[in-house]
Amino acid sequence: MKIPNYEEAKKRSHEKTSIRNFELDNDYKNIGLNKTYFLKTYGCQMNEHDSENIKGMLDGMNFREVLNMEDANFILLNTCSIRENAHNKAFGMLGRIKHLKEEKPNLKVALCGCMAQEEGVVKEILKKYKFVNFVFGTHNLDDLPRLLANSFKEQKLNIEVYSKEGDIIENMPLERESKYKAYVNIIYGCDKFCTYCIVPYTRGSQRSRRHEDIIKEINELVKDGYQEVTLLGQNVNAYGKDLYEDYELADLLLEVVKTGIPRIRFLTSHPWDFSDKLVEVIKNNKSILNFVHLPVQSGSNRILKLMGRRYTKEAYKELFDKLKSIDGISITTDIIVGFPTETEEDFKETLDLVNYCKYDSAFTFIYSPRENTPASKLEDTTPLEVKEERLYRLNELINKYSKEANLKMIGSEYDVLVEGESSKEGMLFGYTETNKLVNFKGNKDSIGKIVKVKILDAKSFSLDGEEV
Ligand code: 5AD
Ligand code: SF4
Repeated sequence: MKIPNYEEAKKRSHEKTSIRNFELDNDYKNIGLNKTYFLKTYGCQMNEHDSENIKGMLDGMNFREVLNMEDANFILLNTCSIRENAHNKAFGMLGRIKHLKEEKPNLKVALCGCMAQEEGVVKEILKKYKFVNFVFGTHNLDDLPRLLANSFKEQKLNIEVYSKEGDIIENMPLERESKYKAYVNIIYGCDKFCTYCIVPYTRGSQRSRRHEDIIKEINELVKDGYQEVTLLGQNVNAYGKDLYEDYELADLLLEVVKTGIPRIRFLTSHPWDFSDKLVEVIKNNKSILNFVHLPVQSGSNRILKLMGRRYTKEAYKELFDKLKSIDGISITTDIIVGFPTETEEDFKETLDLVNYCKYDSAFTFIYSPRENTPASKLEDTTPLEVKEERLYRLNELINKYSKEANLKMIGSEYDVLVEGESSKEGMLFGYTETNKLVNFKGNKDSIGKIVKVKILDAKSFSLDGEEV
């Protein structure tokens, strides 16, 4: 039994992270014969990508995936901690699973992901959800085969969550969701400690993968016919800082360009680490797509300071303008409303900033206090109705600019990577270089390829068109 501990999770050491290769013990390879699993993933792309590794490991153990949890012998929840509603959804699911387990006592149940790293969650599982078989954290994903094998021998709830991040594990088995576009982790964890955010505690310190390992993975994707790669990290712009003297995200991107993969994205960027070199590299390389997700969080300098964001709105606008000078670029953002002590004046400054940036789109959230974060200790007197009303006004403005940006595309042709048949009858769907969803009339043979699509109509969240 190893229980998470926030004090340990907060520590940052300067030791270099060690790297090791994943190996699946022969003893575990047939554990899943004639058995099925149901995996539910909550949260961000990082979790989605972890789930691709989880599926790879379960496949290696001969488990078969089912899409109905009632049909499964093993249920795994890969959870998210970022806001309370993600939390509540996972606990709601555990409630449903409890009933299933009463009917099927041999059912194995496990929980992993960010919630597993929270002291409070683990305490609650130990108290109220004893039927769970095991819990493991974000730092020991590779322990899944051993823990699952043990659960068939032992009935007792086992918690194995490490608060100190472990090694970087290379060559994890992987079952990718898409045959055309792939996620590739380049950096794990985050050292920014924005005061509202739980990620630095649940995902540990900033650790970059070696660039040669990343390039090797992308070369394989190219060989397999992949068209697009998204370089993933909580803050990809910090890439290399923990590992190299003089090698940053811009250098990595230039190496990725040389692999010949047609489309390169990266996600997410913190404005603090956005170098001029990176702006130039995006500008000068066609395969690095003209799309940057640049979370601003607030337009008030007072709130930005309380959030520990390390920039002012003036510095943000300066960076925004540099990026906007790149022809055809699309910039999106994240905004939190109702941060403790946010006044109507502060909120209006956020609206002013949105009016300045006219984002292509944005994810907007009501602030949600997270266990043990500095912001959760601030007094928060703004009523929920006021926060909801601010969110509504913000969304109206964001949607207006999204639609305006989309309307400008009508009549022009854009490259679209075709991902499959759309939910709209007889249509295909895909994404432009600027990450806009397009539903269009086209030839099914185009699936998996990059084709030209003429835009015929535009809404706030998607475009309609026809293949040229
Ligand atoms: N409450 C609300 N939104 C949050 N985010 C992160 N932490 C919180 C929180 N405690 C948002 C930020 C971040 C995005 C991934 O989630 O906007 O950029
Ligand atoms: Fe959280 Fe800030 Fe790190 Fe993003 S940069 S993961 S918001 S601490």
